[in-house]
Amino acid sequence: MRKKIVAGNWKMNNDEIESQRLINSIIEKKLDNNCEVYVSPSFPFLKDAIKLCDKTNIKVLAQNVSHEIEGAFTGDVSCKMLDSLEVKSVIIGHSERRTIFKEDNNMLLNKLKLCFKNNFQVFFCIGEDIDARKSEEQFFVIEDQLNKTVFQLENIDPNKLIIAYEPVWAIGTGLSATPNQAQEMHKFIREKFKNKFSESISEKLSIIYGGSVKPSSAKEIFAQNDVDGGLIGGASLKSNDFADIVNSI
Ligand code: PGA
Repeated sequence: MRKKIVAGNWKMNNDEIESQRLINSIIEKKLDNNCEVYVSPSFPFLKDAIKLCDKTNIKVLAQNVSHEIEGAFTGDVSCKMLDSLEVKSVIIGHSERRTIFKEDNNMLLNKLKLCFKNNFQVFFCIGEDIDARKSEEQFFVIEDQLNKTVFQLENIDPNKLIIAYEPVWAIGTGLSATPNQAQEMHKFIREKFKNKFSESISEKLSIIYGGSVKPSSAKEIFAQNDVDGGLIGGASLKSNDFADIVNSI
């Protein structure tokens, strides 16, 4: 059985008090025990989050990490720093990091290597933009993103890697991929992992979907064979919606 995962990607939202309130409100909800649930406040509030989530089933996820170990990288946060807060899960390669902050495949590969070396769990995001989808090049784009990053690694531990398929055209647009589009791409990704690593790795790998998942659409998307959960942006900022999505697993 693959792990079922629903993670909130809070992005640059919520100050200290709002972050605490949202976490407390999620803790109060009845959440499906079969699902691993993650919250991701911004860096300054991770320590609070770790404390609040202690002795609950909710885990804390960082939204990013540096591609370097330490040194003159103003504004960056290293694996070692996260480790010292006991945050051991991180999102890498979100399309906002790739496009707005110009993080390229080389940098993402460095991040992957550092994270795995430090025994982190990585949510690695991949996804095609609207032009690629319109010209039916989505499979080519996804394969290329994998070839230049994860597939540069000799081996992976499927307990330490989660792939988040997030079509860029669906992120924050209200325009979710259809359940069929998600299933088709997740199956393709799983097949690629099978060819690159092994069938056993590909069968254990959780592949989650992200892009405008709402309580009303989650059930049908999560019901697809190769969809193992979701990375949730906007809807993760409201505890009721987030809990409904978790309980759609
Ligand atoms: P969204 O964001 O759910 O608001 O579309 C998803 C994401 O960016 O991870």
